[in-house]
Amino acid sequence: MKFNRILLIGDKGQLGKEFSEYFNLNNIEFIGYDIDKLDVSNFNSLKDIFSSYHPDLVINCSAYTLVDNAEKDYESAYQVNAIGAKYLALLCNEFNSFLVHYSTDYVFDGKNNITYTEAKKPNPINNYGKTKLLGEEYIQSILSNDLILRLSWVYGNGSQNFIYKFRDWASKNNSLNISDDETSVPTSTKFVVENTIKSLELGIIGLFHLVPNGYCSRYEWAEEIKKKFNIETEIKKISKSEFNLPAERPTFSALNSQKIQELLKVDFKNWKDYF
Ligand SMILES: NC(=O)c1ccc[n+]([C@@H]2O[C@H](COP(=O)([O-])OP(=O)(O)OC[C@H]3O[C@@H](n4cnc5c(N)ncnc54)[C@H](OP(=O)(O)O)[C@@H]3O)[C@@H](O)[C@H]2O)c1
Repeated sequence: MKFNRILLIGDKGQLGKEFSEYFNLNNIEFIGYDIDKLDVSNFNSLKDIFSSYHPDLVINCSAYTLVDNAEKDYESAYQVNAIGAKYLALLCNEFNSFLVHYSTDYVFDGKNNITYTEAKKPNPINNYGKTKLLGEEYIQSILSNDLILRLSWVYGNGSQNFIYKFRDWASKNNSLNISDDETSVPTSTKFVVENTIKSLELGIIGLFHLVPNGYCSRYEWAEEIKKKFNIETEIKKISKSEFNLPAERPTFSALNSQKIQELLKVDFKNWKDYF
């Protein structure tokens, strides 16, 4: 890696833990913070860290990812997803640090019937998506030299993912209802870390979609989870509307990662091959 002063924000989340593990395994020095030691929406705390550490690379894995809670508490989601991103961009600009930031397929309304390329105009339908889009926009208005990667249905070491939740529900129920009208791409944190590192090594800048190829509905993903973990719980297809959740979810938000595959000179595999 051409960077040697790495600041990892949100190091206790799913993606943050994967980065920590990667850096530790490869003897790459970094410092990591999460909400217990640093609030990304507190400009002065952030500035203190930039002033003492002078990072040359900042990887922002922090986020407010509670999609339903964000409907009732827009302000908390906005502070982390939009203001936190803005403050990091301002400080990266001042301290000449390269910023890597992550966004989401939920910036789209899900009305497409083909995969979303970067050229498609976002139109978020819930507060989580709205605050994540504002985060992207703040960064783009402040920096011209940065990397924003949109991900979807992220899973890794943590509980804020569908695999963990499905296994938990299945351990308590003989039968489960799973939506068949919500389609996207399961994306492992290992895949994200590996391709972020490659992108940094190649000096890629800009906004890109970063997910494996293919896509599936929640129901189809649940079928795969059942197979992999020998789960016998019966699953029934239903419509997402039947759950009556506070946040609306896009119907079809599968991202198209062709652009970054060309720059990385790799062909991503189907999501099932990483699962
Ligand atoms: N999870 C998904 O399915 C998904 C899908 C698409 C895109 N993404 C994006 O991918 C990135 C990584 O997501 P993830 O799944 O790793 O999320 P995650 O597991 O929820 O991790 C986010 C981390 O940020 C921390 N955090 C929250 N507020 C903070 C604050 N004010 N200051 C500092 N840290 C704070 C969280 O702490 P607490 O847990 O204590 O709040 C958590 O440790 C995010 O940008 C997310 O928007 C995720």
